[in-house]
Amino acid sequence: MGKKIAVVNAGPRKGWNTDTLLAEAAKGAEAAGATVEYFDLFRLEKYTGCISCFGCKKEANKGHCMCKDGLTPVLDAIRKSDGLIIGSPNYLSQVTASFRALYERLIFQSLTYNAENPCCRQRTVPVLFIMTSNAPDTAYVNLLNDYQRTFETFV
Ligand SMILES: Cc1cc2nc3c(=O)[nH]c(=O)nc-3n(C[C@H](O)[C@H](O)[C@H](O)COP(=O)(O)O)c2cc1C
Repeated sequence: MGKKIAVVNAGPRKGWNTDTLLAEAAKGAEAAGATVEYFDLFRLEKYTGCISCFGCKKEANKGHCMCKDGLTPVLDAIRKSDGLIIGSPNYLSQVTASFRALYERLIFQSLTYNAENPCCRQRTVPVLFIMTSNAPDTAYVNLLNDYQRTFETFV
């Protein structure tokens, strides 16, 4: 069985920098036998960031985000995937607001508040995080490392 890879574009411009790098990464995954599902956060049904309902913290919900909106299919696909490729342009020294909306929902559902075992996911998957910017690639190393560390722990 080939691997399933979720690819998420958190930038608005089709065919530009972020989309191009993500499409190339997706091609590489496909060439290695993976099946790719591509999501454009700017072309989803309406969605929000985390609404602090704490539904994901209920035992019965097992770390699943209970807020149902345009991001739900993206969260489902990431959960079922063997790997995530996510990209965002840098906006004002950060990722986009759309990236943050997904990030809040994706990470918070897995957070336990237990320092010894902070993540409630049964398994974690590799994440490739791409950020495009006008500044040289050394400008945002700390930002990239912080996101990468959180992804490694919670996705
Ligand atoms: C609102 C906005 C804010 C931006 N802020 C930054 C920034 O702080 N630092 C930077 O290096 N580039 C910044 N950029 C440039 C983009 O990150 C860069 O051009 C990126 O590759 C665009 O990605 P895209 O082609 O996928 O849209 C900004 C662009 C926009 C539209």
